[in-house]
Amino acid sequence: MTAAEHYAARVDAVLAQRARLRGAEPSGDLYGNLEPDHPLLKADPRRPLDANLKALADLIEPSDAIVDVGGGAGRMSLPLALRCRSITNVDPSASMGAAFLANAKAAGISNVDLVQGDWLAADTPQGTVALVNHVTYLTRDIVPFIEKVERAGSRRVILTVNAPPPPSWNRVLFQIVHGEAEEVVPGHAELMNVLWEMGRLPDLTMLLAQNVRYIVPLPSRAAALAFAVQRVANEQWAHWPVAAAFEARTRATVEQHFDDLYAHGADNFTPRWISMGREVLITWQPGK
Ligand SMILES: C[S@@+](CC[C@H](N)C(=O)[O-])C[C@H]1O[C@@H](n2cnc3c(N)ncnc32)[C@H](O)[C@@H]1O
Repeated sequence: MTAAEHYAARVDAVLAQRARLRGAEPSGDLYGNLEPDHPLLKADPRRPLDANLKALADLIEPSDAIVDVGGGAGRMSLPLALRCRSITNVDPSASMGAAFLANAKAAGISNVDLVQGDWLAADTPQGTVALVNHVTYLTRDIVPFIEKVERAGSRRVILTVNAPPPPSWNRVLFQIVHGEAEEVVPGHAELMNVLWEMGRLPDLTMLLAQNVRYIVPLPSRAAALAFAVQRVANEQWAHWPVAAAFEARTRATVEQHFDDLYAHGADNFTPRWISMGREVLITWQPGK
């Protein structure tokens, strides 16, 4: 098996398991149900740069036109818009796109543009830097995807993934609820193997844990239960409503394992099963 075939096989295994356990992915906007204050949707573009975002910003030049592939609501690229010529976000999600434009407007940022569409189907915007943050985990056709990314970023490609990958952050809970091991999406190792197979020699840097509000103490047992049910439902990025029977069964299992799953504070409960790991920066100069 080639590295690209292995990558596709990982994605296929995840999608097959997800379809069996959670049903088929509904058509429409996959991110349409995110709560409005979800960290992917709400991030102030003018916030001070954390160490991970600074590592990306250090690779940007003021004259750069950045193509943000799957840029979502601009969590990563809008702070960079303040440090470069322009940002073009290519993303199929209407809700992410609307949040991107709203976040830019609220921050007084006007050098941004949105193309609503799938990366492989969209016309390739011509930029100097291609930015790809947390998009590749379920990208089955990874080689054409990367080749197109390179065409969009003539000077540099900047790509980040997380280790472990976010769609598989809840694998411990998944195993308890479903009684089987989770199929895990491809991450940095599988991606590096594909890039090496393509003859690319990227730099890889292990950054810190992502600065997102994900492992937060829950204020009540009811909130902790609801959080765990939601995490199981959304694992493997199944971001769609749950059936009542699935919810009831998951809730009952979480109840049963509650004391193992949560660290009890004086007045809160903190999930024990999630390991955020570290963000991984992969970057290279196309053609060099
Ligand atoms: C986890 S979000 C990350 C968003 C943003 N890059 C960030 O780091 O905050 C993944 C994004 O990738 C987008 N996406 C997924 N598949 C895509 C594709 N084939 N082409 C373009 N965007 C895609 C989704 O719509 C979503 O907005």
